[in-house]
Amino acid sequence: MTDPLGEQASPTARESSGILGLGRSGGQRSAEMLAGIRAELMPTPEYIAMARPTGRVIGGMLLRLARGDQPKINVVIARPEAYRHLIAQTLRDKPGAHYVELASGFLPRPWQLAREFPQLRVTEVDLPEVIAEKQRRFARAKLTLPPNLRMRSADLGAVPLAEVLAGERADVITAEGLLGYFPLEKVQFIAAGVRQSLKAGGVFIADIATKETIAELSTGKGVQALAIFRRNAGSWLGVLDDPAHAQRLFGAVGYSRVETYKMPELAERLPHVPKPVANATLFVIAHN
Ligand SMILES: C[S@@+](CC[C@H](N)C(=O)[O-])C[C@H]1O[C@@H](n2cnc3c(N)ncnc32)[C@H](O)[C@@H]1O
Repeated sequence: MTDPLGEQASPTARESSGILGLGRSGGQRSAEMLAGIRAELMPTPEYIAMARPTGRVIGGMLLRLARGDQPKINVVIARPEAYRHLIAQTLRDKPGAHYVELASGFLPRPWQLAREFPQLRVTEVDLPEVIAEKQRRFARAKLTLPPNLRMRSADLGAVPLAEVLAGERADVITAEGLLGYFPLEKVQFIAAGVRQSLKAGGVFIADIATKETIAELSTGKGVQALAIFRRNAGSWLGVLDDPAHAQRLFGAVGYSRVETYKMPELAERLPHVPKPVANATLFVIAHN
């Protein structure tokens, strides 16, 4: 499969205007806003270390604007927890596995899992400016990087993943909040590249917008906050018709089995996640 959009930089990696101090590209600004919201909602030392002060101010403002729309606010807690649950489930009984987190942004999850499981090999990938800034934040907070964690910079819409990973294959590859920023032909290109970097039986875990999730996010008190988020992060380019569309799109690039779950379905498995949770994104678990 050839890259349908050529080697040019992805829209999220290009310089664009947005809230000052939150980064030069839409990609970086989306990671900053999420880190800011998380640090305000869940002020743990790690979430605080990963957010910049401007990000927390903007995050606090977005939360105030969304006040009363708890199902959408709960998504900020539920989505990373759902990923953690799915990663742990996939890696159960595979202590020396290789886990790759694409578009890791300012999520501390790769760092946390690398520390919790010293035998696990962890690679995280994001745009160069995000990775450089993340490394500075770990250093500033005196959070030592564990030896089983590697950080790699790449524009994943332009560079094949196999090149980024130098041909190394993984047991699980995740992409939290990435695919919606690409048109569907590019999503398929990324999914195909991920499959080439998975071991036999490996799993790609991602989430993507559908017509139903966009409709749900277009109503309620959180709409204004979401509009500000989207204006600074970039709009959804890849929107699926429905879960069956995910099956076809991932199936067409060779995945042998594709499971889909709506956000609230996964949240039900997680007793510590506050409910209700909005149907804000569709989870796709694609098996190589
Ligand atoms: C919505 S944020 C999600 C970040 C993180 N996964 C989280 O949940 O907080 C999207 C992430 O995708 C990254 N990203 C966007 N376009 C990218 C690209 N072309 N290549 C690599 N990373 C990209 C951004 O830098 C950003 O960290």
